[in-house]
Amino acid sequence: MADQAQSLRELVWRTHSVARVLAVTSGKGGVGKSNTSVNLAIALAQHGRRVILIDADLGLANVEVLMGFNSVYTLQDVIDGERGIRDVLVNAPGGIRIVPGTSGLAKMADLPQSARQNVLTGLRDLQDQADFILIDTMAGIGQNAVGFTLAADEVLLITTPEPSAIVDAYAMLKTIYLRREDAVIRLVVNMAAYESQGKAVAAKLANVARQYLGRNLSYLGFIPRDPHVSQAVMQSNPFVLTYPNCPAATAMQQLAARVLQQQVETAPRKENFFRRFAQSLGIAG
Ligand SMILES: Nc1ncnc2c1ncn2[C@@H]1O[C@H](COP(=O)(O)OP(=O)(O)O)[C@@H](O)[C@H]1O
Ligand SMILES: [Mg+2]
Repeated sequence: MADQAQSLRELVWRTHSVARVLAVTSGKGGVGKSNTSVNLAIALAQHGRRVILIDADLGLANVEVLMGFNSVYTLQDVIDGERGIRDVLVNAPGGIRIVPGTSGLAKMADLPQSARQNVLTGLRDLQDQADFILIDTMAGIGQNAVGFTLAADEVLLITTPEPSAIVDAYAMLKTIYLRREDAVIRLVVNMAAYESQGKAVAAKLANVARQYLGRNLSYLGFIPRDPHVSQAVMQSNPFVLTYPNCPAATAMQQLAARVLQQQVETAPRKENFFRRFAQSLGIAG
């Protein structure tokens, strides 16, 4: 898995015209990863970006359920080597494209090498097809969740203000940093009662990260607890489309704006990495 993540990163860094890959992850399940992935993807598309969302929760794939459709082909066909990833890519509401997910394959590590290679090749084939590739991962520190997460350029770590979610978010943070020192992780606090609660959770996690891991943790923002979210889930229609002015949708637009803003801020880091990587191959002075 580490090799897979490494070779994917190399592919990602190879040129600047490739997609920015964001993994949406969490320590605990049910904190809002899928809703954040779907609605953030649409919000980014509303800014004119080409966005592909990969449903990589191999345990509980539900991007399609949230969006109200059902595809014939899924990531399973890619894993099995039956289809190329571009063949399973489908147009979805809100102007995004998705790679539909597959459930019941929770342990990616148990898949044969050929299956993992198929996924890796698939991700590479999408690199020039989008400005953003969002990956909705599965919760927890298991191989699969961490595998996709380590391969991404950036990680959006989702938590809620509940202590159990915060503790699990910290475990995830630690796992990612232990396995990838240069990981870029940004925290999103979902289901916050109000803005200051989001900030307080972020400050708490940032403190522990600094104290025990010697790392800074940046805070992307919060999404309020909003009944429109579950209403939209019940209708299989993403809330940024169904209730574009609800508090959660407004917050999602602000998160998208910050992600776009960071495009500019992260560019030098890519440049440095690219230069280091090129130097290590002896092709740049
Ligand atoms: N901001 C929110 N406000 C209210 N309810 C929410 C919010 N975010 C998520 N939920 C509820 O939590 C449930 C789980 O969210 P989901 O995105 O499926 O989590 P995950 O992908 O992390 O398991 C949703 O079905 C919804 O009912
Ligand atoms: Mg989910």
